[in-house]
Amino acid sequence: MSSINEMDSQTSEACKSCNEGKSSSRCDTCPSRGKGGDKPAWDERIVKRLSDVKHRIAVVSGKGGVGKSTITAGLALNISMMGYRVGVLDADVSGPNIPHLLGLEGRRLMGSELGIEPAMSRNGVKVVSSEMVLTSSDTPMIWRGPMRTTLVNQFVADVNWGVLDFLLVDLPPGTGDEPLSVMQMIPLDGVIIVSTSSSLSMLDVSKIINMARDLKVPILGLVENMSYMQCPDCGKKIRLFGESKVEALAMKYGVPLIGEVPLDPSNAGVDEMPVDGKSLLVSSLRPIAERVVFEVNHRA
Ligand SMILES: Nc1ncnc2c1ncn2[C@@H]1O[C@H](COP(=O)(O)OP(=O)(O)OP(=O)(O)O)[C@@H](O)[C@H]1O
Ligand SMILES: [Mg+2]
Ligand SMILES: [Zn+2]
Repeated sequence: MSSINEMDSQTSEACKSCNEGKSSSRCDTCPSRGKGGDKPAWDERIVKRLSDVKHRIAVVSGKGGVGKSTITAGLALNISMMGYRVGVLDADVSGPNIPHLLGLEGRRLMGSELGIEPAMSRNGVKVVSSEMVLTSSDTPMIWRGPMRTTLVNQFVADVNWGVLDFLLVDLPPGTGDEPLSVMQMIPLDGVIIVSTSSSLSMLDVSKIINMARDLKVPILGLVENMSYMQCPDCGKKIRLFGESKVEALAMKYGVPLIGEVPLDPSNAGVDEMPVDGKSLLVSSLRPIAERVVFEVNHRA
């Protein structure tokens, strides 16, 4: 086994010079060029790699900090508890959070003759994240966009997922180059859009809906996160942003609202998500996970 940093170094060096506008002899064989004769090879690798991955779903949002990573991890745990083989690709290179949420902090990816080997969470979810190739978790990934995209490309083309029923992809927020390139590169069954009911988050939902439609990626539905809190005394729903307007938004754009997730005060976000059934967050994602699984199985 060799470390992924070693495996990557050639591509990374080549891309550094690409980013500086210089071309290097290595560019001729660089899989990240995106144009020219080697593009089919790149696509072929992706198709081959993903041939044993039955369903691929990306979790997206118009705005940052609305709970994409939290919901990706919670859905992965639920779908795994439903008996499916699940992998999570953390495609947010600048803010990789999935390893923390699935109890894999500090884990390093290793390579084998079959490719990059994913790490396995305690609950059997396979995970690949850029955090697992960094020297330490508090070192920021100060790479330019094209290099971040190259790393995600490499993950998609070279990770040995084995047989999976579901691959969930946690994307960086917004409609910029990075989410766009992942959505173009991975043949997706669909996207799940996460929004809070704050007006700013909702404003940006329309952009992500339009992006998915432009790319002809099906929208599995909209999840409204942190929409309410349950009163600990009487169980009444306290709506944090007032009456929800997300349902009206979903109707306006003709996308299904597939569930709402309460704010879970016990979720600090820095620790591994508990799966003992006591987590309000994880248990409230169950019906959403069931709906997504049903939807995708019946589309196929
Ligand atoms: N339903 C919830 N209840 C309580 N806390 C939550 C909930 N959803 C998300 N959070 C918290 O909100 C913060 C942002 O969530 P998260 O990191 O999942 O968002 P994100 O959309 O992935 O952000 P980014 O755009 O930076 O990737 C985290 O601290 C997380 O723990
Ligand atoms: Mg995130
Ligand atoms: Zn009350």
